[in-house]
Amino acid sequence: MSREGNARGSRVTLHVVSSLDGFIARKDNSVSWLDAHGSVYEAGVSISQEEIAAFIKAIDCYVLGSRTYEHALELGWPYGDTPTVVVTGRELPPARKSVEFYSGDLKTLVNENLAPRFRNIWLVGGAMLCQRFLSLGLVDEIRLTIAPVLLGDGLRLFGGLLTEEKWNLKNVVAYKNGFVELTYAARTV
Ligand SMILES: NC(=O)c1ccc[n+]([C@@H]2O[C@H](COP(=O)([O-])OP(=O)(O)OC[C@H]3O[C@@H](n4cnc5c(N)ncnc54)[C@H](OP(=O)(O)O)[C@@H]3O)[C@@H](O)[C@H]2O)c1
Repeated sequence: MSREGNARGSRVTLHVVSSLDGFIARKDNSVSWLDAHGSVYEAGVSISQEEIAAFIKAIDCYVLGSRTYEHALELGWPYGDTPTVVVTGRELPPARKSVEFYSGDLKTLVNENLAPRFRNIWLVGGAMLCQRFLSLGLVDEIRLTIAPVLLGDGLRLFGGLLTEEKWNLKNVVAYKNGFVELTYAARTV
């Protein structure tokens, strides 16, 4: 599948945290499994608050599905004042000035609405929106953070995808708390 990332001059990064067995949410939506579990991987790296802040500052825009948006509002808004686009077919109240809503074709969203305004676009869930972006070839990079836990049941990140696609591994970072971040780039042909 060909990618439009280079042509449009912006990059869409899909970033989510998954359990070892491929779930991104429990059925009851509880998120305690996302916390560090007391697992210590001595050879892993740790990053400072300054490094995290610099990293987050480089993100130009977040894109999320409406269910992820509603959950984020319940848990405490993690996206600061960074522009955030919520994809929904409903009329939802904007929780913050930085939030805008979008309904409709996702290629148009990326190529005509986002790409002219933002370079570093982060798609942060949930499963439904990520699967739609992937099946339309709109994801340039996947950053998958694997938490050291088996959940057994829940919402599958890649559950609805039906076609085989090969991706190129670009980076692996193992953290001291046992989480591992895998970065993959889409193949351009
Ligand atoms: N572990 C992680 O890193 C992580 C990350 C993100 C989310 N999550 C979890 O994942 C769960 C939510 O994921 P989810 O898969 O259920 O839902 P989701 O992808 O967050 O949202 C799905 C909603 O997005 C809207 N949507 C999708 N495509 C659309 C389109 N083309 N046009 C218009 N609207 C569209 C629809 O909204 P309407 O129904 O409003 O029309 C749809 O119901 C939550 O529990 C959340 O906490 C986990």
